[in-house]
Order: sequence, then structure tokens, then C-alpha cells
Amino acid sequence: MQTVFVTGGAGFIGSALVRLLIAETDWRIVNIDKLTYAGNLESLFEAGRNPRHVFSRTDICDRAALDALFAQYRPAGVIHLAAESHVDRSIHGPGDFIATNITGTYTLLEAARGYWSSLDEAGQRAFRFHHVSTDEVFGSLGPTGFFSETTAYDPRSPYSASKAASDHLVRAWRHTYGLPTLVTNCSNNYGPCQFPEKLIPLMILNALAGKPLPIYGRGDNVRDWLYVDDHARALKLVFERGEPGATYCIGGHNEKTNLEVVDSLCRLLDRLKPRPDGRSYLEQKTFVADRPGHDQRYAIDATKIGRELGWRPLESFESGLEKTVRWYLDHPDWVAHVQSGAYRQWLEQHYGGRA
Ligand code: NAD
Ligand code: TYD
Repeated sequence: MQTVFVTGGAGFIGSALVRLLIAETDWRIVNIDKLTYAGNLESLFEAGRNPRHVFSRTDICDRAALDALFAQYRPAGVIHLAAESHVDRSIHGPGDFIATNITGTYTLLEAARGYWSSLDEAGQRAFRFHHVSTDEVFGSLGPTGFFSETTAYDPRSPYSASKAASDHLVRAWRHTYGLPTLVTNCSNNYGPCQFPEKLIPLMILNALAGKPLPIYGRGDNVRDWLYVDDHARALKLVFERGEPGATYCIGGHNEKTNLEVVDSLCRLLDRLKPRPDGRSYLEQKTFVADRPGHDQRYAIDATKIGRELGWRPLESFESGLEKTVRWYLDHPDWVAHVQSGAYRQWLEQHYGGRA
């Protein structure tokens, strides 16, 4: 049985990946997460209680703690998702983004390199350090064109700049030290267990609470949406079969304006959970001041991962969005714990002193 480290495995995408890896492999997963406001062990559901899941509450900036984990568990590889991930937060307070996304990735790379250097030749060849990144590192597109593996970096927010820096560090550790790294750059994800600061869960929960649906600017910014389980499958594939040193762009070919997304959500909710007064959720749409430096359009050309690894998304935007709305409607406890902050106590209640 091989051991794989997943950092950020209590977050939105990390928890989906841990659930997938526990269900579809026989690997032991060591889930390394600091449990910031975005970390929620409740999102692991059954996978969190599986004996092959080991949780360690660890900050990726803590070199001594990382060294101890590498020495204890001797992993076959690392899938690195831990990050500060929200653009609006990065505008209001970039410090945590610099610390976790840049210094944390550097610290993890150094801990991984220290451990990797101690392996025999076969162990070194088999080892993988897979860095999970975003398409936002490429900047903003006009009305046409796509981001691909060869697009030049042009990050514009503190979040995307910190992710770009971490991507460069990862590639430098491959070129300089030979560490077998992989980088994936993915478009906007949506699906179950996303923290309600991001567009889709924020709109669902505000709509249900009768609150305004705040659309930045004119709502004509375009994002390329991918269902989170499709991303998790792509990550598993790249980790297992990707070429060391390679980059793969991942995207769903689902370009939508923010207004289209919000309108679709309102119409889904009108059907699945009509307002008590019989009116449409569309009435709650509100246009608010734009985000500073708001990127206009993101779109991914995912040809390479399709051609080389046979990946393609299973969900269309319509099927994925309906699944997502149904998931939030069907999980009032998860939502209530996030909204009340009770999810922060879950660690103590369920893991006691073991974390
Ligand atoms: P998230 O904010 O939901 O989760 C991040 C997780 O990292 C949380 O569990 C948090 O506790 C943990 N974390 C934060 N700082 C840490 C630290 N110093 N040490 C250890 N753990 C720490 O993020 P997400 O949306 O799941 O994104 C995961 C990764 O995927 C990120 O690297 C992000 O840049 C990337 N990504 C996200 C999207 C998206 O649409 N959400 C798209 C492409 C790429
Ligand atoms: P977000 O989910 O924050 O992801 P990102 O900024 O990483 O793309 O935002 C997605 C889009 O939705 C983005 O163009 C900003 C917009 N947006 C709103 O219009 N209103 C909101 O309340 C939020 C959170 C986002």
C-alpha cells in the first residue's frame, strides 16, 4: 500500500480529491491541512473515518513538522492543494497569500527535496510532487482565444501573483534539483462543499436566505466552469500518469458570464425550491461596485490532457449546476455548521487529541 500526501485536503477541491482517492485506490492518504477558515473536516464525510485516511493539522510553512511527516510516512508523492484561494480576500489582505502560497510552497518543496534526496534511485524516479494551480496565473483574455500550457504568465491579483510565484518555484525545483514535479492549471471549480464566499455557493445561499445576489460590475465577466469531481479525476490521472516536468491545463469548455450563471441558479431554485411568495429569485439580483482589477475572461484549452491522458469532463454545466444546487438543498447541516462557525469545533469533537 503506497502513501500519498494531500495538502489542503480539508478544503473544497482537496476534500473532493481525498474522497475520490479513498474510494478508488488502496492508498493511504495523509491529509495535511492547517484548517484555516476554509478547512472543514466535515467535507470528508465517510472518507474522513476510513482507516486509510490520516489527518495531520499542520501548517505547510512549518518545516520541522513537514520533515517529521515525511520521515514517519515515507510517501510515494505529494499532491499540493493547500493555499489561500479567494481573490477578494487577497485584495483586502494579501499577507496570508504570500505566506502560504509562496513561502508555504517553498517550505514544502524543500521538505520534499530533503526526503527525496534520501531515497534510492528507483524511489527517486517514482516520486512525484504535483502542484495544483489555477488558470488565473495567465491573466485576463479578451473576447477570443484560450489559455494553454504555453501561454505566458501575466497574473493581476495578489492571489494569482502568489500562485504564479509558487508555479515558478515548483518548476525551478525540477530544473535545478531534478525533483520530479508536475503542474496543473485549472479553471474555476464549482460543486459540493465549496465555501460560500465564492460566486456559486454564495448566490445559492443568499437566494435561499432572501438576501441580495451581488453581481460585480455589469456581470459580463466570463469564467470557464468545471465540476469539482471532474477536476479531482484529472488530478488523479496526472499524478499517476503525467510526464514529470510537464504542465497540464484543465478546463470544462463551459464559458459563462456571471450573469448567465446567476440567472441559471435562480431558475434552478425557482424549480427546485420555489420562493414562499411565489415570485422568482431573479428579483434578488443586485448590481454592486466592481472588484478592483477584475479579470474580464478566463477560458482553457484542455486539448493536451485529453490527447495525452484521455481525460474529459463527465458533467456538462447544466448537469453539474443542478447537482450542486441539489447538494446544497440536501445538506442543511453542512450549510448551517459553516454559517454558524460550528464546523470549526468539528475537529475536537470527532478527532479528539488525535489530529
Ligand atoms: P480552499 O480555500 O477551499 O481550501 C484550501 C485549503 O488549504 C483549506 O483546507 C485550508 O485550511 C488549507 N490551508 C490554507 N493555508 C494552509 C497552510 N498554511 N498550511 C496547510 N493548509 C492550509 O481552496 P480550493 O478552492 O479547494 O483550492 C485548492 C487549490 O486549488 C488551491 O491551490 C487553489 O489555488 C487551486 N485552484 C482552485 C480553483 C477553484 O476554482 N477553487 C481553481 C483552480 C485551482
Ligand atoms: P469567484 O468565485 O470569487 O472566483 P474567481 O474570482 O477566482 O474567478 O468569482 C467568480 C466570478 O464571480 C468573478 O468574475 C467575480 C464574480 N463575483 C460576483 O459577481 N459577485 C460575488 O459576490 C462574487 C463572490 C464573485
